[in-house]
Amino acid sequence: MRLFVAVDLPWELRERLTGLAGGLKGARWQPPENHHLTLRFLGELPRYMAEEADLALAGVQARGFGLVLHGVGVFAKPGKPASLWAGVERNPALDHLQAKIETALQRAGLEPERRRFAPHVTLGRIHNTSPDELAGWIAAHNLFRVDPVPVAHFTLFSSRLGKEQSVYTPEVEYELA
Ligand code: 2AM
Repeated sequence: MRLFVAVDLPWELRERLTGLAGGLKGARWQPPENHHLTLRFLGELPRYMAEEADLALAGVQARGFGLVLHGVGVFAKPGKPASLWAGVERNPALDHLQAKIETALQRAGLEPERRRFAPHVTLGRIHNTSPDELAGWIAAHNLFRVDPVPVAHFTLFSSRLGKEQSVYTPEVEYELA
């Protein structure tokens, strides 16, 4: 199973995010049902490891928090379509939750995540978009801001790679205190 741990976003937030999608040639936008904030990508795991991961996640104790989105940006990787995202305001409770999840999963036997936590919500990907257009899109949405939205649980998702879009399915929800 291909798995990841994420904050599942409420619909009001997905609707706001959908408002950012558009006005950029060469962009392929995520449908709102795919919007999420990844806390940890687990990748392809055999069933017994997925069960270990689930047990570890069920033991995570952390507090809920208010999630604030603001700004937009782009991640560019050589040889890959760049991804467009909405920014997530860092806060100690989010960082604490992410750190607890990382520790729990390592104890369950997963390899450590080497990449720095860069919280974001992916909005879409671009192919061959002109730098000017991209700069225009970023400038148009840079002041995007959503007031705190309560986060009371996190979710283990499975992911099936589709031709057009991946299909993400919530498998287990873990309550926060
Ligand atoms: P992205 O949104 O920045 O692309 C499901 O695929 C989620 O896991 C996505 O949010 C994606 O991040 C993240 N993800 C996919 N492949 C990944 C990888 N190899 N390493 C880290 N995160 C990954």
